[in-house]
Amino acid sequence: MAYFYEEPSHTFSEYLLIPGYSSSECIPNNVSLKTPVVKFKKGEEPALTMNTPLVSAIMQAVSGEKMAIALAREGGISFIYGSQSIEDEAAMVARVKNYKAGFVRSDSNIRPDQTLKDILDLKAKTGHSTVAVTDDGTAEGKLLGIVTSRDYRVSRMDPSTKVAEFMTPFESLIYAKEGITLKEANNIIWDHKLNSLPVIDENQRLLYMVFRKDYDSHKENPLELLDASKRYVVGAGINTRDYEKRIPALVEAGADVLCIDSSEGFSEWQKRTLDWTRAKYGDSVKIGAGNVVDREGFLFLAEAGADFVKVGIGGSICITREQKGIGRGQATALIEVAKARDEYYARTGIYVPVCSDGGIVHDYHVTLALAMGADFIMLGRYFSRFDESPTNKVMINGNYMKEYWGEGSSRARNWQRYDLGGEAKLSFEEGVDSYVPYAGSLKDNLTLTLYKVRSTMCNCGALTIPELQEKAKITLVSATSIVEGGAHDVVLKENNKISK
Ligand code: IMP
Repeated sequence: MAYFYEEPSHTFSEYLLIPGYSSSECIPNNVSLKTPVVKFKKGEEPALTMNTPLVSAIMQAVSGEKMAIALAREGGISFIYGSQSIEDEAAMVARVKNYKAGFVRSDSNIRPDQTLKDILDLKAKTGHSTVAVTDDGTAEGKLLGIVTSRDYRVSRMDPSTKVAEFMTPFESLIYAKEGITLKEANNIIWDHKLNSLPVIDENQRLLYMVFRKDYDSHKENPLELLDASKRYVVGAGINTRDYEKRIPALVEAGADVLCIDSSEGFSEWQKRTLDWTRAKYGDSVKIGAGNVVDREGFLFLAEAGADFVKVGIGGSICITREQKGIGRGQATALIEVAKARDEYYARTGIYVPVCSDGGIVHDYHVTLALAMGADFIMLGRYFSRFDESPTNKVMINGNYMKEYWGEGSSRARNWQRYDLGGEAKLSFEEGVDSYVPYAGSLKDNLTLTLYKVRSTMCNCGALTIPELQEKAKITLVSATSIVEGGAHDVVLKENNKISK
């Protein structure tokens, strides 16, 4: 006979934290959100920790190189999406690893035989007014000139005028050679009153642009997450099919941590992937596995050698529960798995961090997930709303939106049909294609979210995540008190919407 759970499974919104005693030391500035990412033995330090306990989801609509750089700057980690070709994913990882603050890969590029109209179209698309002119129109082509808005007058010029006729040609450009430091580059920018400085290699190929406006941006990032060579830390998603080729390519590109990306991780496929990785790389390659939603699933992956275990079925774009009838309330799943982790630690002396994946809607859900035992949290919808997500920003009914689609939607799965020769036939979707309200920059939003987390931790009398997990008092709330939790019995003024 089937096993029946005695209790229903619950979501984060059904819980609240009860305040504990806070001493005068308990102020947000004193809170540390440092957390382990990979397993470690009792008494030893984990090989990889984060300063911010948030990772961005392994999704096309979330984790590209811009997200990875922006999040690492704030102390978290992005997992670059695996639903792309091995070469493309490895190249994305390599670009994050090679990124040097202030040195950016040119986003707007054009060939000299293109036209003023092409420049205007490009400007409308990217919003950039500086365009590099290269022989092949790529960001790595031979630099032949630069076009800025000072080089053309739309009202006086024929749109079909060739770029070569009005660009500032290479001979008249001020540029720098590979190897220059940011300080030196900025001095040249200031001395010559430039807005941007191209950096080229010995063959005149474009490497980076340094922009005047970026001058201050890299200065203050006290939480930024760097590897031993001072490069940003980045993760990458893998699957249980092509891992023998994908893992070596990602390791070669410099990925710091990998994660098997699956909505169902309690499987022989994941064990085989972990076994293969350990046989080839020992413990030097860090690899998480998942997703699971119960004790058994956790123990299976921990014993199979996962560096961390990811928990959850039910992100905001997830229709797995509707389509297949499997899943579990995220809070219940997390509480059970965190307990299993603690038991496993007590029994073996090995601490395997738990990542709570999906279902974060309000900022306080982050604090709840940490209090319930998550070591870190993976978010998709949250990050998809920011400038740094790789999707289009579109205007809908007067509001800016960003696109956000599930990895199990036909939109995300299409890459396989093109890349794997049409073998992977979509039978039914497990995710939707949607919009989310555009929310601005990652830094602004994350700063506010983390401030709320820190201040709630102070209300619970906790200055660290382990302390929160020990001290937190958590209560289930009744359906009526959920209504009580929002503004109620008042008539809200038009412009007085409560921010979430
Ligand atoms: P969110 O933060 O609630 O938007 O959830 C993000 C998580 O949803 C991801 O990290 C995945 O675990 C999961 N996910 C991504 N795409 C799909 C899908 O198409 N179907 C089901 N779950 C998905």
